[in-house]
Amino acid sequence: DRGAGRLPRGLRFEAVPPNTADAVTVPVGYAQQVVIRWGDPVLRGAPRFDARRQSVAAQSRQFGYNCDYMALLDPPAHCRGDQLLVVNHEYTNEEIMFFGYDPANPTREQVEIAWAAHGLTVLSVRTDRRSGRLWPISGDALNRRITATTPFELTGPAAGSDLLKTSADPTGRTVLGTLNNCGGGVTPWGTVLSGEENFNQYFANAASVTDPTAKQRLARYGLPTGTSQRKWERFDDRFDLAKEPNEANRHGWIVEIDPYDPDSVPRKRTALGRFKHEAAEPRLTSDGRVALYMGDDERFDYLYKFVSTHRFKKGTSRAAREHNLRLLDEGTLYVAKFTGDSPIAEIDGTGALPEDGDFAGSGTWIPLVTGNTSHVEGMAADEVYVFTRLAADKVGATKMDRPEDVEPHPHTGRLYVALTNNKDRGAVGKTGPDEANPRNGNKHGHILELDERRADAAATFFSWRLMLVCGDPKDPSTYFAGFDKSQVSQISCPDNIAFDEHGNLWLATDGAALGANDGLFAVPVTGPHRGHVKQFLTVPKGAETCGPIIADDRILIAAQHPGELDGATTENPGSAWPDGPGTVPRPSVVAVWESGPRH
Ligand code: FEO
Ligand code: CA
Ligand code: CA
Ligand code: CA
Repeated sequence: DRGAGRLPRGLRFEAVPPNTADAVTVPVGYAQQVVIRWGDPVLRGAPRFDARRQSVAAQSRQFGYNCDYMALLDPPAHCRGDQLLVVNHEYTNEEIMFFGYDPANPTREQVEIAWAAHGLTVLSVRTDRRSGRLWPISGDALNRRITATTPFELTGPAAGSDLLKTSADPTGRTVLGTLNNCGGGVTPWGTVLSGEENFNQYFANAASVTDPTAKQRLARYGLPTGTSQRKWERFDDRFDLAKEPNEANRHGWIVEIDPYDPDSVPRKRTALGRFKHEAAEPRLTSDGRVALYMGDDERFDYLYKFVSTHRFKKGTSRAAREHNLRLLDEGTLYVAKFTGDSPIAEIDGTGALPEDGDFAGSGTWIPLVTGNTSHVEGMAADEVYVFTRLAADKVGATKMDRPEDVEPHPHTGRLYVALTNNKDRGAVGKTGPDEANPRNGNKHGHILELDERRADAAATFFSWRLMLVCGDPKDPSTYFAGFDKSQVSQISCPDNIAFDEHGNLWLATDGAALGANDGLFAVPVTGPHRGHVKQFLTVPKGAETCGPIIADDRILIAAQHPGELDGATTENPGSAWPDGPGTVPRPSVVAVWESGPRH
């Protein structure tokens, strides 16, 4: 703490050094518990997990694979737990899930187990009053599994569009399943939002489409020209673009789940646009409407904002609830354009600060579409919603280094945006550096702060600055808000972010490129320790740190895809976490809490 005084509350732990252990490593004086693992029982009648006896019936009642975003909500009165945990299951790693898996020839049963392992889980949990433990209450009436085959309603202005009709759904209003649920958010009315991210990978045969407009759209969204990685198209025609060219248009949305009603039909909100949705973080505008901040996680893609037309209604009356459940169907969708305040010639791609000493500037939110009115020349409103990336291309939005999570500061409303990395920045034939994305070949990512004008989430002007340019602090291209770099932890590839109640920012990493495992980090954003990054934990081999929830009495993380290493198989796994030697790795939720002296 030399020179900067005592560390702020919430950060008085001893930093965990970078490591490659096949374990969750926490600071001295902290304890941990695996709360729930892939395959653990969720619904009534679910069997215990048995890696060698998996079935569709079992998986559809058990905890899904690759836990990602998590939300912890207060339960209704009739719940047996004292918290409700909602978890995304982003994708499946078949090679390390199934014994004897042949990637060229998956069986129908393996494919259907994978469908059941996608989606979300709603789970009642009971907290332990003397520790940070959380006990899952399997079989609780509120528990729910949503999978790749659960019926969803498409709502909002593009619902019913010809672009969303298929032979199974000539109305363009109902879809089976949600795929690649990555980050998310909790609305002020208590529903959970979840982003459908890399949905493109599940579809096959884009090369069969010959219409030039359709071809361009498929290419912009990265749909595979030939077979898909998981070969689902062999088992359900809807994954084959040659047979169902519009099914892929029904994925890539923000979905809204009402965890308090296990019978509710989840919704895909078309007003929020279609892209590789990372997350959706709400904030109320000064006049009480709801704004949502959303990243499109792709190299050179964009940051978006939605502002509702109508105001949020407080209270738990049925009328208020029904009103609020329609808020995300009507509003304006915007995309961000960032302008630097230094001459572009001073942004040389090395990460060297411009003469004025920081990467900063102003920006505008460019409107794309409001209700049924398109603001983009040559595109109808439904085309803007379904092919939002093409609309944003036309209006000159700023191409970013993979926008992931966005989080408002709980006290100031200032927004923090995680830009995870972009190895192609400045490469031959690719877009060069700008002040908001200043490093060529950006391997380690950065954190951008954004202030809406007058701190109003409805504003169309903002200012911004980079708070962190990540990497090894010895690397001169890194920047830790001017804090003494000899005291900070190395950090690479920030992805999910969260605040604690003291206003410290917590960063979970995915794909850390400094030779150590991914982890969870904390950093003050104000005061003399601003920029003082400290590593709080590390996750097992091959895993990514997801869904951090930072509460005073416990920290929750999802350790996603442990053992996801090149060439790993179930017979030769890259990790044996959490069950130990001789077992398959299992993505799991972990609770961490303070249990003793910290030094
Ligand atoms: Fe699923 Fe962009 O992380
Ligand atoms: Ca992930
Ligand atoms: Ca993510
Ligand atoms: Ca990621």
